[in-house]
Amino acid sequence: MRYIGITKLEKGMALGQDICNGQGQVLFPEGFTLAYGDIQKLQGLGCPGVYIEDSFGKGVPSPMAISPGLRRRSLEMIYGLFQDDRLPDFPQEDITALAGDLVQELSARKDAIYNMRDIKIYEDYTYFHSLNVAILSVILGIPYGMGQDELTDLALAGFLHDIGKRYVEPEVLSAKRMLTDEERVLIVQHPKLGYEFLQKHYSFPQEVCGNVLEHHEWYNGCGYPLRRSGAEIPLFARIVKMADVFDAMTSKLPYRDPLEPSIAAEYILENAGAEFDPELVGIFQRRVAVYPIGCEVLLSNGQQAVVMENYGDAMLLPRVKILPSGDLLDLRSDKAGGLVILD
Ligand SMILES: [Fe+2]
Repeated sequence: MRYIGITKLEKGMALGQDICNGQGQVLFPEGFTLAYGDIQKLQGLGCPGVYIEDSFGKGVPSPMAISPGLRRRSLEMIYGLFQDDRLPDFPQEDITALAGDLVQELSARKDAIYNMRDIKIYEDYTYFHSLNVAILSVILGIPYGMGQDELTDLALAGFLHDIGKRYVEPEVLSAKRMLTDEERVLIVQHPKLGYEFLQKHYSFPQEVCGNVLEHHEWYNGCGYPLRRSGAEIPLFARIVKMADVFDAMTSKLPYRDPLEPSIAAEYILENAGAEFDPELVGIFQRRVAVYPIGCEVLLSNGQQAVVMENYGDAMLLPRVKILPSGDLLDLRSDKAGGLVILD
């Protein structure tokens, strides 16, 4: 399969993955053939692009980090945690079991590189984001040699990091207008509100709750709410902070379109030691693809290609499939120069 920007979608194209809403309900199933009206609907939902199956994407491996079933169940759970009436449906054991399933699927992967573009429905950003931060956090946590239990807590930390936003009106979270002072204060309080919510309703380990409180701290002490710095900030919070920023930058937000993964990666590298833990930035460079699998890229010689595989020690030099010939080219050995993503 390959990724294609929404403006390039054409009727008759077949979806390479389920398109879900933030409640985990399938809006369009994998394999669905798009009619013109469906493309307009996807556009209206704020989908920046989708994965499709076609001859150019044939043989390109699936970049999906987790199985469609686990993705649906996770979204349903995250959504439920944001709804008062559905809270009792999600006891701590069930949430922990889902986090454990996520860790198991990610640990079973051959490479554990984050290689996909997450397809989000704009209005449901918070739910997709919470799931994706959990996925990214576990991928960044694996190189620390954490065991299954610790990684499960890290996945929980990702799932729950923004749970304090349940106290902020969805209209405020997706507002394209300037926020009022009162609304801004409420948003800044979400780490504290989330921490208090977990203390009141659950008994998750301190590492999980501490992360919720501190996921907006900066490595140099300029974050909030405690203004801690360096190793004073719990490791989970340093990891989730990075996952949070990368996923937010590569998502459509009220005030801008999604940025390319390469731009988000550049920002993270530039802010090593300021916003981010420098050691973690090194791990990020080996674990998060700048040119995710299935993306169309332009080689410096003018040829178009689709990314087939990424290498942790050379993220800027993936293996690609040249279009339209289908020839394979390993940029590590063939010096074709820089790449640009084509949407
Ligand atoms: Fe947050």
